[in-house]
Amino acid sequence: MSLFFRGSRKFVTRLTRCINFSNNRARVLRELRRGPMTGRALICAAAVATLALVTASRAQEAPWSEQAVQRHLDFDTVAAEVAAIGPAALIAQGERLFTAKFTRFDGVGRPMATQASIPTKRRRPAQSAFVRTSGPDANACVSCHADPSPGGAGDFTVNAFVSEGFTSAEFDSLDPQFSNERGTTALFGAGLIELLAREMTTELQAQRSAALSAARTTGKPVSAALSTKGVGFGALTAAADGAVDLSGVQGVDPDLVIRPFGQKGVSVSLRQFTVSAANAHHGIQAEERFGARWTGEADFDEDGVAAELTAGDVSALVAFQAALAPPDRFAPSDKSWRAAADAGATLFERWGCADCHRRALPLTGLRFADPGPYDTAGTLRAADVGAAIILDLGALDWVAKLPRNAAGDVLVPLFGDLKRHVIADAAVSAFGNELLAQNFVERNMFMTAELWGVAATAPYGHRGDMTVLDEAIRAHGGEGRASRDRYVEAPDASRAELVAFLRTMGAAQ
Ligand code: HEC
Ligand code: HEC
Repeated sequence: MSLFFRGSRKFVTRLTRCINFSNNRARVLRELRRGPMTGRALICAAAVATLALVTASRAQEAPWSEQAVQRHLDFDTVAAEVAAIGPAALIAQGERLFTAKFTRFDGVGRPMATQASIPTKRRRPAQSAFVRTSGPDANACVSCHADPSPGGAGDFTVNAFVSEGFTSAEFDSLDPQFSNERGTTALFGAGLIELLAREMTTELQAQRSAALSAARTTGKPVSAALSTKGVGFGALTAAADGAVDLSGVQGVDPDLVIRPFGQKGVSVSLRQFTVSAANAHHGIQAEERFGARWTGEADFDEDGVAAELTAGDVSALVAFQAALAPPDRFAPSDKSWRAAADAGATLFERWGCADCHRRALPLTGLRFADPGPYDTAGTLRAADVGAAIILDLGALDWVAKLPRNAAGDVLVPLFGDLKRHVIADAAVSAFGNELLAQNFVERNMFMTAELWGVAATAPYGHRGDMTVLDEAIRAHGGEGRASRDRYVEAPDASRAELVAFLRTMGAAQ
């Protein structure tokens, strides 16, 4: 099996073992009380969690039912269980939901709602249950995120057509004026990515606050450079009256919130993305956005099923994704490949690739709170719940293997910077191919693609229409142009070395 996903697989294996081991709850609890969390006790803890989750869930369907989601989870119960005995059962349930082929009994389809992430009614009922371009376009999350294992990327056949707000989806979604075609990205390491983004947001916003209070104190305008984890985001100027000039801010929205998800960098959390994806791809509507609170209706899409995903169900999907191990580097057994990859690693720095594709960003905290601090209305927020679910990523065995710096921060080897860049210009324009500005981000700007799994996630580019790395590298215009030109002008052998290096990122062994 590939190195991908090994961490979470281990969880599932453990869980299966522990279910076998624990046919009675008292025995498991006895084991737990016995002392330090040894391997066996951990296994027991997971077993208790399973038992408890089953108890907490709503009435179960008959085992032969064609309902894919056979039990729904209650958020507060799940939060308490995870706090008491860890997240293994929740992660396992998340994998079940991620790989489930949702059915009409679960609420698949949205006859009277569009794929828009903001609840939007259709004018007329949908003609077809499934439409490849405007959705519902797939049966399961894993229909697209499958390569090389659940949570992975997808090839061109599973591209998605991303759009908002039109009502004649069947017609409009084929038109690039109304939708952007995107290739499916892998979710490996997504929990670490979200944690990095949260820390970066906190730091950037603190820099804004510091400039504001300095301006207030001195009575004079104060300019501050915005920078976090070594990545610069331009500068702002705060005036004494509290006004802030944001014209110098770069690569992030004016609210200084890093939105690490979506290739455009427009989604703040796995939770927010998951709620949108479930509606767009499957017509499965999460209560927290499409329920009565925000829409006034329990069954907004009018398909006869209410509460298709509870807050606890969404948390299970989030936990599964957040716990996916990041892609690993691969050490080729072929000597000449190893030598070429070493030389390529040097060129990657020398040609400026690493200016955007940062080798690693330092992460201080490993406690993943769900909901997160920057989730906003329409997604469950911290203020909506008694206590958040805390997933301690530090307890996952693959996290322990990641290198740390002198300060004890985990070095997340993402080969990215979670920043948007202008990536097309007049002469080199392939990445500037979209007509629609998603969330009003300039059409020629994309978030730096994380390269940590790039050897295993062909095809490339945001549209998934480039078959080889060379093509994707040559397509860099705009801010990437100088770096790309160094590559293009280099001798063939040097270019091959760079590719040899990239081909060690996340390759299956
Ligand atoms: C029809 C294919 C398809 C299905 C089904 C699908 N996705 Fe995706 N997913 C995509 C594409 C395409 C992207 C990239 C979107 C973009 O860049 O704008 C993506 C991106 C994501 C991201 C952001 C990843 C990142 O690093 O930017 C998350 C999270 C995600 N999907 C979760 C899910 C979940 C959860 C489900 C099931 C409820 C799901 N997806 C179902 C195609 C799909
Ligand atoms: C100015 C920042 C920047 C620099 C410098 C840069 N890149 Fe990129 N890179 C990006 C962005 C942004 C994307 C996403 C492009 C898209 O799909 O729209 C990207 C995408 C890629 C991809 C495609 C990944 C995928 O999964 O589709 C590869 C491969 C890549 N870069 C390699 C390189 C190499 C090699 C260099 C050095 C020669 C380099 N990049 C320099 C910003 C940069």
